[in-house]
Amino acid sequence: MIRTISAVASVAAIALGLSVAIAQQDVIKTRKDLMKANGDQAKIGADMIKGAKPFDLAAVHKMFAAFQNAAQKMPDLYPAGSQNESGSPVADKFSPTDKVWSDMADFKSRFAKFANDAKAADASVKDVDTLKAALGNIGKNDCGACHRIYRVEKKG
Ligand code: HEC
Repeated sequence: MIRTISAVASVAAIALGLSVAIAQQDVIKTRKDLMKANGDQAKIGADMIKGAKPFDLAAVHKMFAAFQNAAQKMPDLYPAGSQNESGSPVADKFSPTDKVWSDMADFKSRFAKFANDAKAADASVKDVDTLKAALGNIGKNDCGACHRIYRVEKKG
């Protein structure tokens, strides 16, 4: 009887451990997908600025909506233990740095700023010049500023 209980308990513990691992992979995939969408959307905006694509206000709104969606969801996608450093099965070219977890309040406040900036940009853009100013500001002060501290690119 006792052996049965402990066998059941250890199977349950293994299952629980697995489901935690799976949940963390989901969280990592979700946050990477949101960031990839940011990158894809920013490229569309950059192409309009370069003249590689015609200016399209509907696409601009879509881009800033994607930024706001990511900014709202990202803060909840870094639970303790969800690091995806090298060695992890979900390690990729890009990983969050340990500072995400040690400076979580600052990390999260940057997403709030990112959301506000994307919202303001959405209201301000009317043409290529205003797009250039707004996306330039976000690229430097939101994407770039955060990546410098909180994102690491794997070499090689
Ligand atoms: C407040 C911080 C923060 C902001 C703002 C931010 N990012 Fe990121 N970004 C990250 C972190 C952290 C990662 C690493 C994601 C991971 O693996 O968990 C990342 C990863 C990425 C990746 C790589 C995704 C992959 O794994 O292939 C791209 C592309 C990217 N960001 C684009 C952008 C763009 C474009 C913007 C602005 C429009 C932006 N990010 C704004 C923190 C941020």
